[in-house]
Amino acid sequence: MKQKDSSQNEIQEVAGNGLLHRRAFLRSGTLLAGGAFLTAKAAPPEIDPWSQVPGAPLQTYGNRSEFEADVLRTTGSRPPALGAGSSRTPLSSLEGIITPSALHFERHHNGIPAIDPAEHRLLIHGLVDRPLIFDLEALSRYPLVSRIQFLECSGNSAALNAPQPARATAQGIHGLVSCSEWTGVPLSILLDEAGIQPEASWILAEGADAAMMSRSVPLSKIMDDAIVAIYQNGERLRPGNGYPMRLFLPGWEGNMSVKWLRRIKVTDAPTMTRDETSKYSDLQADGSSRLFTFPMEVKSVITSPSGEQTMQGPGLYQISGIAWTGAGRIRRVEVSADGGNTWAEAELSDPVLPKALTRFRMPWRWNGGPAVLQSRAIDETGAVQPSRDTLMNERGPQAIYHYHAIQSWQVSDSGEVYNVYA
Ligand code: CO
Repeated sequence: MKQKDSSQNEIQEVAGNGLLHRRAFLRSGTLLAGGAFLTAKAAPPEIDPWSQVPGAPLQTYGNRSEFEADVLRTTGSRPPALGAGSSRTPLSSLEGIITPSALHFERHHNGIPAIDPAEHRLLIHGLVDRPLIFDLEALSRYPLVSRIQFLECSGNSAALNAPQPARATAQGIHGLVSCSEWTGVPLSILLDEAGIQPEASWILAEGADAAMMSRSVPLSKIMDDAIVAIYQNGERLRPGNGYPMRLFLPGWEGNMSVKWLRRIKVTDAPTMTRDETSKYSDLQADGSSRLFTFPMEVKSVITSPSGEQTMQGPGLYQISGIAWTGAGRIRRVEVSADGGNTWAEAELSDPVLPKALTRFRMPWRWNGGPAVLQSRAIDETGAVQPSRDTLMNERGPQAIYHYHAIQSWQVSDSGEVYNVYA
């Protein structure tokens, strides 16, 4: 396994098919010498056209470079309700762990309501001593907390339940996961103020969209770490993510973090709403259906290189990807370049936060031959991301939600990267 030559004797393979030690990029400049920079001349550079005229004027709200204009969400609607559907985050174009708000995935059940924040109200009622009504201004005066946390649709990656592997990008398969800094008021504070009655054990959360999307949530989760979020990545929520206020339930299936939150009813049982029985329940192999499967399980995906990308010739690459778990922190991510025969530990990039996306990276020397790239995440509870075979055997082919198996990207000897089942 160990490769030694005169120029790169510090760079050892740690697993099959060219995986290098996770810190190889850090400890060896000679590794980079084989890299991607252009050869420089000794003379000063030419003066480029953009350096010869005054630049653009100041902007009151910033835009990205026009050269980045093709980094976009993909959208899918289901007529006749054109607002019902989802948009997917372009995972392979992003780095780090924060999803720009404009690229955060969205899932709507009847479009994005145009809510005037001055008119919007949140009602808390049901099994409480004092029903309370909050407007945005009142809510904003409570103590705020900020946390960087992922949100994932329970239908994310469902395409991989299909018997044949679709040709698709990381965005197309896994783009219903994003990560933001969410700022809001702990719901436990508001419920304490309302006074929870002893028989209370669930809540109903209802949105102000035209679908009145609503879900039941156990009171224990609400009192643990639920917030009413009013800011995303430092600014007010985007309309598509619940403006002016949404429920946010860290680590749980995205649909429960009810957007455009208008009502919380404290109850002694789940309400059995349309949205938790017609959808978001899990059909079992025996024909029965499981309700209330809330936490998102340990998962990872390599975002570069990934599906439908093309390698730029043999040489050194930095494999990069994201890992997450609804159970807390990611403890370790392992990467394989030989379809799971051998594995090596990837570098986890700081910060590694609970219930957040975690960025992992791994140096890889691609020899120009076929490879199958995989990542496998392990979380702090010891839960290990399963292989596709294991997950499919456990759940049966009828399953839709909560797909979280290992993704395999085939790299062909011509450098094409595509989705396979390995
Ligand atoms: Co579920």
